[in-house]
Amino acid sequence: MDISLLPFPSRLNITSINKTEINGEPVKVIDKTLGREEYELSVCDGAVTVRASGDEGFFYAEKTLDQLKYQYGNMMPEMLIEDKPKYEYRSFMIDCCRHFFSVDEIKKMIDLCAAFKFNKFHWHLSEDQGWRIQIDKYPQLTEIGSVRHGTSLGKEVNNADYGGYYTKDEIREVVAYAKSLYIDTIPEIDLPGHTSALLASLPEMVCGDKKVEVKKTAGVFKDIICAGREKNYEIIFDILDEVCELFPYEYFHIGGDEAPKKQWKECPECQAKIKAEGLANEEELQGYFVNRISEYLRNKGKKVVSWNESLNGGNLNGEATIQFWLDGEKRYEKYPDHDIIVSDFFAYYMDYPYEMTPLKKTYCYDEKIAKKVIGVEAPVWTEYIPDFKRMTYLCFPRNIAVAQTGWCENKPSYEKFESDLCNLMGMFDTTDWAPKSDWNRNQLAQKIGTAKFFIDKLNKDFTKQLIGNMRDK
Ligand code: ACM
Ligand code: ZN
Repeated sequence: MDISLLPFPSRLNITSINKTEINGEPVKVIDKTLGREEYELSVCDGAVTVRASGDEGFFYAEKTLDQLKYQYGNMMPEMLIEDKPKYEYRSFMIDCCRHFFSVDEIKKMIDLCAAFKFNKFHWHLSEDQGWRIQIDKYPQLTEIGSVRHGTSLGKEVNNADYGGYYTKDEIREVVAYAKSLYIDTIPEIDLPGHTSALLASLPEMVCGDKKVEVKKTAGVFKDIICAGREKNYEIIFDILDEVCELFPYEYFHIGGDEAPKKQWKECPECQAKIKAEGLANEEELQGYFVNRISEYLRNKGKKVVSWNESLNGGNLNGEATIQFWLDGEKRYEKYPDHDIIVSDFFAYYMDYPYEMTPLKKTYCYDEKIAKKVIGVEAPVWTEYIPDFKRMTYLCFPRNIAVAQTGWCENKPSYEKFESDLCNLMGMFDTTDWAPKSDWNRNQLAQKIGTAKFFIDKLNKDFTKQLIGNMRDK
């Protein structure tokens, strides 16, 4: 008998070839010897018995039981499941800056991810293309930074204003909703790069004296917060104070990715800071900048997460957790001190087409890239995502492959995973999501699909920006 479960449990023993008719609710037994997220579920002699040490374990048992009921109704095979997660950090990320999702849409995504035992929601709230969180001390961040005056993303080119932000009450609502499904919401305020929306709102923070606009195109921009100006640290800490109040969890993401150093190289204030702090170069200035923010947040009881570029200077404090996405180097030796969250660009980025990142590639990716991997995350960036349906099409079923990697100590084969998907996907059918169903493509279809995806994105503005970046290097 082949029982389908997603994610598949650590241990599942079918204890009898006979099925038993279940009548009545599961019997819950508190067992303090089990871990926080661990549970045992037995189906035996007409009864389901669940053991857990507390609410989280019972919740995960309930998610497993939902899938068993979907398959078997109340005539279930007798079995014993002993289950606990491989990693403490099992995360999905939504970029709500390039595309602004409503609170209801975010909650729907949280529902879908909770079903597969994700326990972290990384909420990407600030970007070049929009600032998305109310900050009382700096209302200009939402008055100015939440609106871009036009959009030029691939085929989508228009001059209409596009914007939106989450009020503090809306943020509290999402955080509380996720918590009710045992998901911690982790905010990301991306610093010091990807800050055009912030710099458009607070021009006194920019390196040099260039006027910055909320960006309309995708890409990496050289506008950056001046890391030499002391006042900027005060403003950042003020903003972080207000964000911290809304998110009661330990982890706090401060970005750190794709921060071009051209302006820091040319800025007298940044150069003076490099000299005063005895730093070797601009990469070390980023390490210094992130260390200062980490220390500030540590004093507020938080632990910083940063994308892997903050390691480039070699002077980052070991206490920062690193989210690995892309660095092109031999990795195992490179991360001896840091806790690592794995989000490999080529395997776990959900926004790329299935032709480029087939389901099998996501599933079979070996996430053990360093000694201290604490978990996995599936990010979805939204430059090219126009609505919730498209997001769910791209995320499912690939998100489930990441959920399974994050949960299962001994992952079943890819073939077993696919067959479980076929058996269970119908369970999650709703009218407003659209999971992909034909994930097996031949190599030629993959190559053509990947090329088509990138060609579609190359409009005039984006091409100009890419060429500009190459010139600056
Ligand atoms: C990233 O994709 N820039 C983290
Ligand atoms: Zn500067």
